[in-house]
Amino acid sequence: MTFLEQFEQQWAPRLGPRRDTFRATFSYLLRRKPGGHLILETGCARQTDNWEGDGQSTYMFDRFAEAQGGDVYTVDINPASCDYARSIVGQRTRVFNEDSVPFLHRVGRELRAAGRQIDLLYLDSFDWDAANPVPSALHHLKELCAIAPALTPGTLVVVDDSFHALRGFRSGPENYVLLDDQGIAGKAMFVAQYFQQIGVPLAFDGYQCGWVLT
Ligand SMILES: C[S@@+](CC[C@H](N)C(=O)[O-])C[C@H]1O[C@@H](n2cnc3c(N)ncnc32)[C@H](O)[C@@H]1O
Repeated sequence: MTFLEQFEQQWAPRLGPRRDTFRATFSYLLRRKPGGHLILETGCARQTDNWEGDGQSTYMFDRFAEAQGGDVYTVDINPASCDYARSIVGQRTRVFNEDSVPFLHRVGRELRAAGRQIDLLYLDSFDWDAANPVPSALHHLKELCAIAPALTPGTLVVVDDSFHALRGFRSGPENYVLLDDQGIAGKAMFVAQYFQQIGVPLAFDGYQCGWVLT
């Protein structure tokens, strides 16, 4: 069974709002090259079988690296999240217990010195709070700043818990009228604004947003 067949059969039905964007992510990686990918993730899987709520990204990235012969680095500030992640991955995934911003800054320098390219940067750390959205969005922009010197054209950047904020009103029990799209909100709020300003187009959106660096 190929990785994508396994994705469709075993994980896609459980992924809820992330199904199509995870499919787009893995499809992009496989179009980019057949194997040897490097995936960097912030915020690792922290809870058994939490597919619909969190996504189990670390598990799927590890399975992808196992199938295609690549490497996964994942970082999390919480030792309990790291313990859980370590319990579900194999040899191809390294789990680091520290704050993601200094981690990405250091690892980015090491990767540049080694001439290694990042294929996927997956940002999903500091939990987003609808009542106080700025701290999380700012943290994810800092993550992007910390790793930016190590990113190259073709790197896919995906930010979880990010979506178009639509404004409208209800015009009946099941009818909604859309007034306008207020842009991307959630963890990627500032990342999206930055990419828009420097002309990096949005590759896909949904409940995760992705950009391919040009
Ligand atoms: C939403 S969960 C990650 C879910 C995971 N990607 C998945 O798909 O199952 C967010 C994680 O980010 C971690 N986190 C929060 N702040 C962080 C920081 N400053 N640096 C690194 N990790 C952080 C939390 O400990 C938590 O485990």
